[in-house]
Amino acid sequence: MNILILGSGGREHTLAWKLSQSPQLKKLYVAPGNAGTASIAQNIPIGVNDFEAIKKTVLSEDIALVVVGPEDPLVRGVHDFFLNDGELRDIPVIGPQEEAAQLEGSKEFAKQFMIRHAIPTAAYQSFTAADLEEAYGFLESLHPPYVLKADGLAAGKGVVILKDLNEAKAELRSMLVDAKFGEASATVVIEEFLDGIELSVFVLTDGNGYKVLPTAKDYKRIGEGDTGLNTGGMGAISPVPFADKTFMDKIHERIVKPTVEGLKKDELPYKGFIFIGLIKVGDDPKVIEYNVRMGDPETEVVIPRIKNDFLEVLQAVAQGTLDEVVLELDSRSATTVMLVSGGYPEAYEKGKEITGFQDITDSLVFHAGTKLNEDEVVTNGGRVMAITSLDEDFRQALQKSYQNIKKIRFDAMNYRKDIGFDL
Ligand code: AMP
Ligand code: GLY
Repeated sequence: MNILILGSGGREHTLAWKLSQSPQLKKLYVAPGNAGTASIAQNIPIGVNDFEAIKKTVLSEDIALVVVGPEDPLVRGVHDFFLNDGELRDIPVIGPQEEAAQLEGSKEFAKQFMIRHAIPTAAYQSFTAADLEEAYGFLESLHPPYVLKADGLAAGKGVVILKDLNEAKAELRSMLVDAKFGEASATVVIEEFLDGIELSVFVLTDGNGYKVLPTAKDYKRIGEGDTGLNTGGMGAISPVPFADKTFMDKIHERIVKPTVEGLKKDELPYKGFIFIGLIKVGDDPKVIEYNVRMGDPETEVVIPRIKNDFLEVLQAVAQGTLDEVVLELDSRSATTVMLVSGGYPEAYEKGKEITGFQDITDSLVFHAGTKLNEDEVVTNGGRVMAITSLDEDFRQALQKSYQNIKKIRFDAMNYRKDIGFDL
């Protein structure tokens, strides 16, 4: 069968790499893709939110399954677009419909969902500009630090954590009154601060059955020791060493099960990935956020640890037979280190030639922000490439990635040398 993957990052290259190993795959397309996906699939130069162009490709290339990488098209209803179109209706889409995608698209929606289904999360209240004074009062009732979250999608920048009450009030005002994040901050969720160590759990569901995929821990800050600005993710490790059986059982019983059951009770059809961002407070897991897709760079460590034919797994999601699948996992640890453009996550230059990555044989090179420029592979984004390695423990795996990174060169290349430092 022919498959179309929507997206252009390391996540999509990893999914393409995995699906291309399936004997059942005839032809793989990625829209818009990157230089990495171009080497194993056909890139189609269309945007992930251009539903009409996606329709044309799906029909002309005889696509039988669509896998949606990023959240944006899901929150904009790409799955519903397929279901409402006579010619596309029977072509399965991996990714939730618009309503359930609100789990990521609206923090307020996600909070209400968790409260309704008794899923542990930080206490909160939400406010609009009309309730500014009341919101100030709520801030005054909390202990610092103060956690402010723009309700809508804000390109990963919508969460602000401040220690000072007056700064928190000023930030709240700028979000609500001055529309700091546009429409996304017309509602702001103010939350209790949770102190603990973060990890993520990934669930794949067909709306009925589900599989818990490997755990991962992401390193979001640009600087060593988790300092500096937030990024999309600078590296990841799977499995998370402190997520032992007792803790995973709690996550399963208190969070994963009620989440999937809650979707059913609320009549929110869901075929796709659920990314649950968690924090371990004492010995207990609490949910920080839901995402309705895989993480990036978490995908680069989660997917290589799955041994199954992933096309079969996704077909089972489409057909509602996921309960019949037995997941087989690689017991080794996977690590990935993200190479980024100098300056990222602030301004950076693109178009720098990347060399040396072709010589790497004992790590996996997943492209993120790259493109082909004639015969050269050049940088085309802040996050450029993720170097994934597998080994008996995560430290050995990391060593392999760091050894191989020495072979790679591009102008102003930067990366974190301390992934896993806190474990
Ligand atoms: P999010 O955009 O929801 O992933 O939030 C970004 C980051 O803010 C998370 O990865 C956490 O590090 C932090 N964060 C969010 N909510 C809380 C909270 N209630 N307490 C402590 N840290 C939080
Ligand atoms: N690495 C975090 C994310 O994908 O949102």
